[in-house]
Amino acid sequence: MKRSAVNEILQASDAFIRSFGFVLPPFAYWGPDQMRAAAGSAIHTRGLGWDITDYGAGKFAEMGLFLFTTRNGNAADLGRGTGMLYAEKIMISRDKQYSPMHRHNIKAEDIINRGGGDLVLQLFAPNPDGSINRTDDVTVPSDAMPVTLPAGGHLRLKPGQSVTLMPGIWHAFWAEQGDCLIGEVSTVNDDKTDNVFEKPIGRFSTIDEDVAPLHLLVSDY
Ligand SMILES: [Fe+2]
Repeated sequence: MKRSAVNEILQASDAFIRSFGFVLPPFAYWGPDQMRAAAGSAIHTRGLGWDITDYGAGKFAEMGLFLFTTRNGNAADLGRGTGMLYAEKIMISRDKQYSPMHRHNIKAEDIINRGGGDLVLQLFAPNPDGSINRTDDVTVPSDAMPVTLPAGGHLRLKPGQSVTLMPGIWHAFWAEQGDCLIGEVSTVNDDKTDNVFEKPIGRFSTIDEDVAPLHLLVSDY
């Protein structure tokens, strides 16, 4: 992606998020120098901040996602079973913008429609070896109540609705009838190691530095 396109997405996303009364934390607005100076802080080591991806495909409008990680715990706490074991993201899936089929090994996540268009998820259960089970039904909690779908079925979340995706559940998602503001509440998360995609695909974009960055992305530090 061109840095100029990243800058435009940052600004449009900030305006979209604010239109719902949600405001990002102060470090969202740090300039590149201030963010670089925070090297070694939890912002860097836990991957907090702006995260825009086209999954390496170079077609952001068709396949991509805006994310901002507002908090993320300490993965070392997982082994101890106590501590900061949680993470939170705010995301935007644009109308018909696809986030490709994937699962997580460690992370359980609640995906929440915080407002805007509908959020549609395609879901599969895992086989015992972790691969996609294309025959059996898949059951997930949606706002605490179990919902069962055929393999590859679509779950439509209206604003206010959510789904809990336990580790192993395969999921892809996109918005319909407008751009969707999405919340994610999850287990402490390492995006560099805990995304298993169905097809070989990148989690982060490569950036063509045609202009200076407005704000650094997580993948910049
Ligand atoms: Fe996910």
